[in-house]
Amino acid sequence: MAHTLDADVRFHGRTLREGERATLLLASANRDERVFPDPDAFDIERDSSGLRSFGTGTHFCLGASPACACARAA
Ligand code: HEM
Repeated sequence: MAHTLDADVRFHGRTLREGERATLLLASANRDERVFPDPDAFDIERDSSGLRSFGTGTHFCLGASPACACARAA
């Protein structure tokens, strides 16, 4: 997934400039060991509130709620 920056941002010690494209690796974000301890272990009790599967912020998925309802029903 790629976004175009509408402002300069500092991110992990680097400056990304307005107009540049940034690729977001959601699967990688969901295995960020700073958020999820032992990220590759299957832990059904894990706090999943930090997951980025549906994006985040302004463009958070509008279909997240029905998508989760479908998954629960399946
Ligand atoms: C498991 C299913 C789904 C996943 C994993 C998913 C994932 C995502 C992600 C990661 C984004 C953020 C995109 C971005 O930041 O550029 C997004 C946005 C969006 N999703 Fe989903 N989605 C799912 C299902 C759905 C469904 C069922 C609908 C509609 C019925 C939907 C409608 C949208 C819309 C309209 C946006 C754009 C929101 C915006 O830009 O403000 N999604 N989705």
